[in-house]
Amino acid sequence: MAIIIDGKSVSADLREQLKLKVDSLKEKGITPGLAVVLIGDDPASRSYVTAKEKSCGELGMYSRDIRMPADSSEEELLDLIGKLNEDKDIDGILVQLPLPSHMDENKVILGIDPSKDVDGFHPVSVGKMVLEQETFLPCTPHGILKLLEYCDIKPEGKKVVIVGRSNIVGKPLANLMIQKQSWGNATVTVCHTRTPDLKKETLDADILIAAAGQPEMISGDMVKPGAVVIDVGVNRVPDDTRKRGYRLTGDVMFEEAEKVASYITPVPGGVGPMTITMLLFNTIQSAQNRK
Ligand code: GUN
Repeated sequence: MAIIIDGKSVSADLREQLKLKVDSLKEKGITPGLAVVLIGDDPASRSYVTAKEKSCGELGMYSRDIRMPADSSEEELLDLIGKLNEDKDIDGILVQLPLPSHMDENKVILGIDPSKDVDGFHPVSVGKMVLEQETFLPCTPHGILKLLEYCDIKPEGKKVVIVGRSNIVGKPLANLMIQKQSWGNATVTVCHTRTPDLKKETLDADILIAAAGQPEMISGDMVKPGAVVIDVGVNRVPDDTRKRGYRLTGDVMFEEAEKVASYITPVPGGVGPMTITMLLFNTIQSAQNRK
């Protein structure tokens, strides 16, 4: 049976350290501030931004939550971002994705001042990351690297297989894990919907990272015995036996995979808390950079 990687407890540890940083900044009159912008009322997005704001509060940081109706125009959003770029109380700007379909995600991200881009989504941030220059790293990939480090799992020399090629997880994570850094030096394969034989690829993985957003698509027989399994999926699956009417499930069939893997992250309580922790990390870093 696999060791279950407890993302909540690793997060709690890291957040304790971050709290000390916030305390010392506040002694100097600096309170790190995060603006969280949510357009529309997608239930999953709403629960993510609520969690982000709550976590800011717990560390004594300032958070400003801005909700805009789903039919807001792109221009209104860009105006808001322009004001937040100039706002001295704001060190980080997070625009929750996905945006309503009438907005151009690229254009909106381009509007954020890279010095406040705590998501690490701006082309300037992405470019610096690829070139291994100092920048804000995207929160989910960064959180995964921290989890591995915490469990003393070294990617160097390992075969890493990432399932999913999103801008938020798959692409940046693949890039980070090939870097000539302590968190990198892995041999990385990225699989996607056009990969002809997915199982053949995943069975090769020493570290298997599922980030496709497909509930339980990775079964136990797709995992190499002894592999490390990182499940990035957060899927709401209808379930009448639950009060909420749904349950959360990852991209991995947990019960099957935990019998085969050496380490595995649960959903919830694995990667999710780490994403928020790295967002707090970036926002505090931004406040330090600014003052
Ligand atoms: N949607 C899903 N994950 C993320 C994230 O890390 N940041 C933002 N802004 N939107 C998301």
